Amino acid sequence: MIDKQSPIPIYYQLEEEIKSMIHTKQLKPGDLLPSEREFAEKYAISRMTVRQAINNLVKEGLIYRQKGKGTYVADKKFEQDLSGLTSFSEDMRNRGLTPSSNLISFEFIQANEQLASILSIAPTDIVCRIKRVRLADDEPVAVETVYSPQKLVGDMNYLDFSDSFYDYVEKKLHHKIGFGYQTIEAAPASDEEVKHLNIPKDSPVLVMQRTSFLQNKDQTPIEFATSAYRADKYKFKMKMKRD
Ligand code: GLP
Repeated sequence: MIDKQSPIPIYYQLEEEIKSMIHTKQLKPGDLLPSEREFAEKYAISRMTVRQAINNLVKEGLIYRQKGKGTYVADKKFEQDLSGLTSFSEDMRNRGLTPSSNLISFEFIQANEQLASILSIAPTDIVCRIKRVRLADDEPVAVETVYSPQKLVGDMNYLDFSDSFYDYVEKKLHHKIGFGYQTIEAAPASDEEVKHLNIPKDSPVLVMQRTSFLQNKDQTPIEFATSAYRADKYKFKMKMKRD
């Protein structure tokens, strides 16, 4: 419902309304959206406002336009913008989906040479290793392992950060995560990924490796993460500039 007295802009309210229709499956992938005129009449708002909401949802990849036909609900592939350093939970919420995680394991282990060099710690230092299945609206979309130095995250236990690791770092530890590096490559899913992601054996996954750093003088590495995303569910986009 649109509340014209609310300080929340009307185009934003309409965006949320359409997202919730997609979320509750009143609108399914491939469905034709009502036209701008129909939306404008239904909510007694201007077509300009409707257009703004639709444009924003097109940019987010939730819906797409087909010339001369109309606007449709996009398939369930998540279009992930790679230009911002966002968390899984933020990515899902931005799409109107509910993020959650199933814990596979949570351990404190000794770093090896490779991890130590990535995280700028000694090979004898202890790191926290969190392995989780990440879900969007209860559907498994990625298997993720995060390594973080114990001297930064302390003796936390899994419940300390409930679902979001970034929230734990920023809201509970009051560190600011500043920037990160990420690579993406295709690989066949491991047996563990096949099992947790519910995908056929030998399906491809997109493996993202991210190292993120705190926004402090030393630019301290806070995590090294490996995430295997379902290749049938994800596509990535980025803005490119030609110098
Ligand atoms: C993404 C990144 C990970 C990061 C995670 C944090 O999945 N690939 O490197 O650790 O987001 O997400 P959250 O804060 O929801 O746990």
